[in-house]
Amino acid sequence: MKLANASVLALLPATGLAACGTPYSGSQINGTLLRAVVLDMGSDAANVTATQYDQYFKQGSALEGVKSVIANSDFYINLWAIPGTESAFQSVSQCMSDGYLVNQVAWLYYNSTTAKWWGGYEAETEADSYNAAALSVVTNIVAGLEVRFWDTNGDGYTDVIDADYLEGVTVDTITHNANGTYSIYRGNIDVADKTRWEGTNFDADLFDGSGPAIPENNFDTAISPGDVALFWYGPKGWAMKRAQEVVGLFVGGADHTSYNIDGVSYEDAMRFSRDNLFISNRPGEFTDAQKFFKFTNDSAAGLNVSLWLVPVTHTTEYGAPVGMTSDGNSRIFLARAISQAQAQLANVTISSNGSNVPSTQEWVNQANYTQLHDAIARANLSLALANSSSFLLDYQTYVLYQTLNGSSTDIGAAFAGFSYTGFENAEKLGTA
Ligand SMILES: *[C@@H]1O[C@H](CO)[C@@H](O)[C@H](O)[C@H]1NC(C)=O
Ligand SMILES: *[C@@H]1O[C@H](CO)[C@@H](O)[C@H](O)[C@H]1NC(C)=O
Ligand SMILES: *[C@@H]1O[C@H](CO)[C@@H](O)[C@H](O)[C@H]1NC(C)=O
Ligand SMILES: *[C@@H]1O[C@H](CO)[C@@H](O)[C@H](O)[C@H]1NC(C)=O
Ligand SMILES: *[C@@H]1O[C@H](CO)[C@@H](O)[C@H](O)[C@H]1NC(C)=O
Ligand SMILES: *[C@@H]1O[C@H](CO)[C@@H](O)[C@H](O)[C@H]1NC(C)=O
Ligand SMILES: *[C@@H]1O[C@H](CO)[C@@H](O)[C@H](O)[C@H]1NC(C)=O
Ligand SMILES: *[C@@H]1O[C@H](CO)[C@@H](O)[C@H](O)[C@H]1NC(C)=O
Ligand SMILES: *[C@@H]1O[C@H](CO)[C@@H](O)[C@H](O)[C@H]1NC(C)=O
Ligand SMILES: *[C@@H]1O[C@H](CO)[C@@H](O)[C@H](O)[C@H]1NC(C)=O
Ligand SMILES: *[C@@H]1O[C@H](CO)[C@@H](O)[C@H](O)[C@H]1NC(C)=O
Ligand SMILES: *[C@@H]1O[C@H](CO)[C@@H](O)[C@H](O)[C@H]1NC(C)=O
Repeated sequence: MKLANASVLALLPATGLAACGTPYSGSQINGTLLRAVVLDMGSDAANVTATQYDQYFKQGSALEGVKSVIANSDFYINLWAIPGTESAFQSVSQCMSDGYLVNQVAWLYYNSTTAKWWGGYEAETEADSYNAAALSVVTNIVAGLEVRFWDTNGDGYTDVIDADYLEGVTVDTITHNANGTYSIYRGNIDVADKTRWEGTNFDADLFDGSGPAIPENNFDTAISPGDVALFWYGPKGWAMKRAQEVVGLFVGGADHTSYNIDGVSYEDAMRFSRDNLFISNRPGEFTDAQKFFKFTNDSAAGLNVSLWLVPVTHTTEYGAPVGMTSDGNSRIFLARAISQAQAQLANVTISSNGSNVPSTQEWVNQANYTQLHDAIARANLSLALANSSSFLLDYQTYVLYQTLNGSSTDIGAAFAGFSYTGFENAEKLGTA
C-alpha cells in the first residue's frame, strides 16, 4: 500500500509544515550517542529490538525499551517523531488522512473503512493495534541504514532513537535555481536508445523531471553530475547528500550477496531503495554486466569503478551499497563491450533453420541477428556523442550484455520486465 502520491505531495509545501509526527527542533539529536546500529550489516541485527541491544535500555530489554521510546514520541525517522499513542495519532487530522509518512510515503496508517491499523515497510502489514503497527514501522526499516541510540538525560540509557531512511538516486544534472533551491535530474533513457525488449529502467519517479526543489541548506554541494546521492524528507523539506564513494579495482561480486573493491568485500543490503537509480547502476546488475564481459579483476587494464555506500558514523563499519558506476571509464568499458559483441555478430551466418550452414559454423535467424546489430548500433551512437552521460554509457554496456546473454538469469532484469532470449542462447551450429 502506497498512500502518498502526487496528490499528497501537492498538498505539502516544499519546506516542512508539520504533517503527521512532530519534527525534531535541531539538526541532530542533542544527547550522548550510546550506539549507532547499521541494520543487518556486519554483526548488527536486522532490527533494534534484538536482544543484543538489551544493555542500552534501562528496562533490560531492547524490545521493551524501544516500545517505551515510541510511546514517549521519542522515536524519530528522518527527524520526524512517530506519534507515541493512538490518541496522539487520532488527534492530528493529517495523520488520519495521509498517515505517518516516511519520504512522503505512508508507513503507518488507519483504514477507517475497515477500522484496521497498517504498519511496517510502506504500511504493507495489517496490525492488531496502533502500538503494534508503530512497532512494526521501526522493526521494518531496511538493511544498511543507521539507527542511533541517544541518552539525553544522562542516566546512561537510551531515551531517544533516531533512524535514517535514505534512498539512492543517480545525479545526471544539477540546477541551482534562481530562488536558491536545487533541482536534480536523475537522467533517463531516451526513446531512441530503447527497444521493446527492454523493461523498466527505474522503479520510481522522483527526480525524473525537475524533481522536488531541494532547499539550499539541505543540499550537499559536494555532489557532482555522475555521482550517486541519497535523499530523504526531513523537517526542512527534501534533502540530499553525496553517497560515500569507494574507488578501485572491481575484483568480483555476486548480485544480492557482496561486491569486492580492491580486496574489501561489501555485503549487500536487501530492500534498500535503489528505485531512482538506473537499473544498470544498481550493484547487482552492474556486477552481472561487468562479469559477463570479463571486466572484473583485470588489474592489467587498470580501469577503476566506484561503489557508492550509505555513509555511517563509524569508519570501521559500512552502510548499504547504493549503486555502482564506471564514470570516467564508462567509454572504455563500452568500447570493449561493443568489440566483443561485434566479433560475435561477425561470426554468425543468418539462416532460417541452419540447413544451408556448415556444421563448423554458427547461425542465428534474422530477428536475432537484427536485434544484436541494432543494440550495437545504438551503443555506437552513444559512444560517438560527446555529451553521453556515464549512466547512458553504462546502460548501453548493460543492454549489450542482456542482448547477448538473455534476461532470465539476471534477477533484477527479469523482475524489471527485460525479456531478451540472448544471442548466445539462439546460436546453433549448422547442419549442412
Ligand atoms: C542540549 O541539551 C543540554 C542539556 O539538556 C542543554 O543545556 C543545551 O542547551 C542543549 N543544546 C541545544 C543546542 O539544544
Ligand atoms: C528483530 O530482530 C530479531 C533478531 O534478529 C528477530 O528475532 C526478530 O524476529 C526481529 N523482529 C522483526 C519484527 O523483524
Ligand atoms: C481500506 O480498506 C478497504 C477495504 O479493504 C479498501 O477497499 C480501501 O482501499 C482501503 N483504503 C485505503 C486508503 O487503503
Ligand atoms: C524555487 O524554484 C523552483 C524551480 O523553478 C521551483 O520548482 C520551486 O517551487 C521554487 N521554490 C520556492 C520555495 O519558491
Ligand atoms: C584506481 O583506484 C586506486 C584506489 O583508489 C588508486 O590508487 C589508483 O590510482 C586508481 N587508478 C587509476 C588508473 O585511476
Ligand atoms: C549468462 O547466462 C547463463 C545462463 O544462460 C548464466 O548461468 C550466467 O550466470 C549468465 N551470466 C551472467 C554474467 O549473468
Ligand atoms: C583476482 O586476481 C588475483 C591475481 O591478480 C588473484 O589472486 C585473485 O584470486 C583473483 N580474484 C578473483 C575473485 O578472481
Ligand atoms: C530450411 O529452410 C529452407 C529455406 O527456407 C527450406 O527450403 C528447407 O526446407 C528448410 N529445411 C528444413 C529441414 O526445414
Ligand atoms: C565463432 O564461431 C565458432 C564456431 O563456428 C566458435 O567456436 C567461436 O567460439 C565463435 N567465436 C566468437 C567470438 O563468438
Ligand atoms: C531469437 O530466436 C529465438 C529462437 O531461437 C526466438 O525464440 C526469439 O524470439 C528470437 N529473438 C528475436 C529478437 O526475435
Ligand atoms: C559499431 O562501430 C564499429 C566501430 O566504428 C564498427 O566497426 C561497427 O560496424 C559498428 N557496428 C554497428 C552495428 O553499427
Ligand atoms: C547531445 O548532442 C546531440 C547532438 O549534438 C544532441 O542532439 C542531443 O540533444 C544532446 N543531448 C543532450 C542530453 O544534451
